[in-house]
Amino acid sequence: IVILPTAEDVAEYGTQLFIRQLTEKPQSVLGLATGSTPLALYRLLISACQQQEVSFAKAKTFNLDEYLGLSADHPQSYRYFMQQHLFDAIDILPANTAVPDGCAADPVAACQQFEQQIADAGGIDLQLLGLGRNGHIGFNEPSSGLRSRTRIKTLTPATIADNARFFAPGEYQPHLSITMGIGTILDARKVLLLATGANKAGAVKAMIEGPLTASCPASALQLHQQAVVVLDEAAAAEL
Ligand code: GLP
Repeated sequence: IVILPTAEDVAEYGTQLFIRQLTEKPQSVLGLATGSTPLALYRLLISACQQQEVSFAKAKTFNLDEYLGLSADHPQSYRYFMQQHLFDAIDILPANTAVPDGCAADPVAACQQFEQQIADAGGIDLQLLGLGRNGHIGFNEPSSGLRSRTRIKTLTPATIADNARFFAPGEYQPHLSITMGIGTILDARKVLLLATGANKAGAVKAMIEGPLTASCPASALQLHQQAVVVLDEAAAAEL
């Protein structure tokens, strides 16, 4: 658990871990996240890449989750988010970026293929995570099986409400997602969870000091041997 004064410090710390990972193993398999929390880290990685302090040319990435029913070119899709906020600005090969396919003809089969793709890549070296206010990681909502694999998950009303800010009033907002499972996340060799802001303090406390429980999916990280949690002081306030 690393507690730093500000959200900017959290992004800087996380960026250094990514740069170290890619320096030690340029062909790293990276697990990536969406949401507002990783945006500052992605901006720092873009600038490090542009200044040739880091390269993604040999890296592969797998994203945690995607809305079911949104196509890659939909502005609210997580594929679109990743193109806008990272992939289009770094030297990664497009073929080396994987985001679950929200428009797969057979989504159940697509989940299994996603797991297979991760396995074929040799597993995830470093998995980046944000934290939902209800303790979710990826879209593993409370009650997710602690050994779950990539699958379709129904979003809770709380998560739908939290993410409504990204959608225009009246715009269709999916209630279903494809997400890596908690078991998939725990298989990553290293995990880096970032949480910032006072609205995450309750979930942070439950994750770190609460019991291991499917009611707080992030508490499963207590089982991981190399999980680094980086918090700003606001998110750490209830510890
Ligand atoms: C979303 C994503 C998560 C993310 C979380 C927190 O629902 N599926 O991967 O970590 O919400 O989002 P934010 O970082 O915007 O608070």
